[in-house]
Amino acid sequence: MNQATLHQLKVFEAAARHGSFTRAAEELFLTQPTVSMQIKQLTKSVGLPLFEQVGKRLFLTEAGRELFATSREIFETIAQFEIKVANLKGLKQGQLRLAVVTTAKYFIPRLLGPFCELYPGIDISLQVTNHDGILERMSSNLDDLYIMSQVPDHLDVNCQPFLENPLVVFAPLHHRLAKEKNIPIESLADQPFIMREPGSGTRRAVQSLFEEHGVKVKVKLELGSNEAIKQAIAGGLGISVLSRHTLLTDAAEFSILDVQHFPIKRSWYMVYPSGKQLSIVARTYFDYLLEAAKSFVDQTNTGL
Ligand code: PGA
Repeated sequence: MNQATLHQLKVFEAAARHGSFTRAAEELFLTQPTVSMQIKQLTKSVGLPLFEQVGKRLFLTEAGRELFATSREIFETIAQFEIKVANLKGLKQGQLRLAVVTTAKYFIPRLLGPFCELYPGIDISLQVTNHDGILERMSSNLDDLYIMSQVPDHLDVNCQPFLENPLVVFAPLHHRLAKEKNIPIESLADQPFIMREPGSGTRRAVQSLFEEHGVKVKVKLELGSNEAIKQAIAGGLGISVLSRHTLLTDAAEFSILDVQHFPIKRSWYMVYPSGKQLSIVARTYFDYLLEAAKSFVDQTNTGL
């Protein structure tokens, strides 16, 4: 292993995590041949194959699994070292790794702008994925902070609510129920419904409200993003339940139905694993977001 480099390990770790050279190349902004070459050289240093291909899928060999676990430990140790050095220097600079659920992408980037202006030395990587994707990333300890709406109860985490996240019923602008008040929840059963994909926190919250009230909606379409659902609603394909925060810029294109038991009241939380030591950078962002969220509430609570 004397010949192996940290860069090779980084490439290998990404390829092993994704089970794909192509996705590793995308994540690391490399070409696919570069990824293959790095892994080939690493394989030579190890002296055993690291991956095996069965059909179209890529699997880790036993040596590959061992190396995957080892590289995770190496990168975690380096990250801890970086935290200690930054803390010793007392500097607010370095990398902030954030992972946020899909709806948070409507407001987190807006709050990042002023943060970056305040702390130009901090570089940010922002991953956007659904609820289950966040849980996976958290179990693999890939990020500094997570932003999500449903705090996992099977993981030991610290969490801090910082903003409300109401889920409301979206319909096309001129929907026949648009002007009605206090619509019984049962009426939603007659409407074609557009649902988020399995693994989505929004979907789970919606399903549990419907179950609680014995409402069976007709799911006409299942879509994997809030944006796709909004386009489908605007195109007249049906109604859906989404976070009100997905509406920041295009509120005029939809109606929000006044349905009983809505909005579903939820909150945004900043979450991190209990054993994790927050870097000075992550702590700075944590405090910043708590403050920034206060003025954000004022801006969004006006219309709907
Ligand atoms: P989702 O997350 O993208 O998984 O639906 C939003 C949420 O949990 O509120």
